[in-house]
Amino acid sequence: MAEKKLMRALAGETMATPPAWMMRQAGRFLPEYRATRAQAGDFLSLCYTPDLAAEVTLQPIRRFGFDAAIVFADILLVPDALGADLWFVTGEGPRLSTITDQAGFDVLKPADAIHDHLAPVYETIKILTRELPAETALIGFAGAPWTVATYMIAGRGTPDQAPAHALKQGNRPLFEALLDRITEATIEYLSAQIDAGAEVVKLFDSWAGSLKGDDFDKYALEPTKRIIAALKARHPGVPVIAFPREAGEKYIGFAKATGADCVAIDNSVDADWAAQHVQVDGCVQGNMAPSHMVTGGQALVDEVLRIKAAFSGGPHIFNLGHGITPDADPENVTLMLETLRG
Ligand code: CP3
Repeated sequence: MAEKKLMRALAGETMATPPAWMMRQAGRFLPEYRATRAQAGDFLSLCYTPDLAAEVTLQPIRRFGFDAAIVFADILLVPDALGADLWFVTGEGPRLSTITDQAGFDVLKPADAIHDHLAPVYETIKILTRELPAETALIGFAGAPWTVATYMIAGRGTPDQAPAHALKQGNRPLFEALLDRITEATIEYLSAQIDAGAEVVKLFDSWAGSLKGDDFDKYALEPTKRIIAALKARHPGVPVIAFPREAGEKYIGFAKATGADCVAIDNSVDADWAAQHVQVDGCVQGNMAPSHMVTGGQALVDEVLRIKAAFSGGPHIFNLGHGITPDADPENVTLMLETLRG
């Protein structure tokens, strides 16, 4: 059997029709997701119930036939497993206990103590290895340390990550100890996901763009490099996708510097620019604006064709520049895939 399209793109193959999947493809824009989530009761119960998490992972594959599935979980399960309290407020987002001083840090568990808590995620992956179609690749994931730290420090999402920047400036040893702990836990977590059957892993650094200059290199690039080196030592040949969102010029050279097999780019950078400066080093994923999944029409069609053409000279995974939003129309996803696949 020919290798899965996503794996071929990650290995550097240029294809006439690139493989496609969508960030947050299992989500509230799908009525079948909303039904399963209601059955689970709340979002975290959905994440920690393997049968239901596997079901919502499979829903977008059945409906759209994407080339990859991403295990249904959340980047904030790692802080939860490290012993931070985590809950989700419907309509608002995540809440966590905050880490602002040594005492707050000292309650965290060691990195290798996370597995009991995260065992349901590994079980979800095992179910998916049996239930996914043969041509669909299975992606595991985690948050990158900086992004996870921004939530652990602030106790919630923040527009400018100010509490995390303040701790970085005010108590750098504590900030760096926290980043180290998350880095070690992430290596353990992704390694266990690969053992369970994940074929690719992705690191989401959603707030990388708020780190500037040396801070970007020390706290976005370096931890990513360290995680990838550890994973490559334990699991040679398993590709890694890195997503330093809103890195801008810092996307250039990021794959080479970190050892990532693919760099995912957001939609604030131009596709032609990214083809010239980022795709020269290997596979690029992205970068359609999620708003097209709400507005649709000819503008969507034109944009799919423009992005496809821009990246046609090298390895490319078609995706959005960020997650699809709850107000998106599933019909527009179908239109996107029909346009891409011709
Ligand atoms: O389909 C998939 O992409 C897989 C599942 C997935 C989720 N979250 C499920 C989810 C993935 C890969 C994530 C990653 C994630 N989680 C990130 C990084 C990517 C990004 O969006 O920048 C971040 C920052 C989080 C943290 C998080 N989880 C926030 C801030 C929120 C609230 C905001 C929102 O979108 O509701 C969540 C909740 C969440 N994670 C939902 C889903 C489907 C919605 C929860 C619900 O059903 O009510």
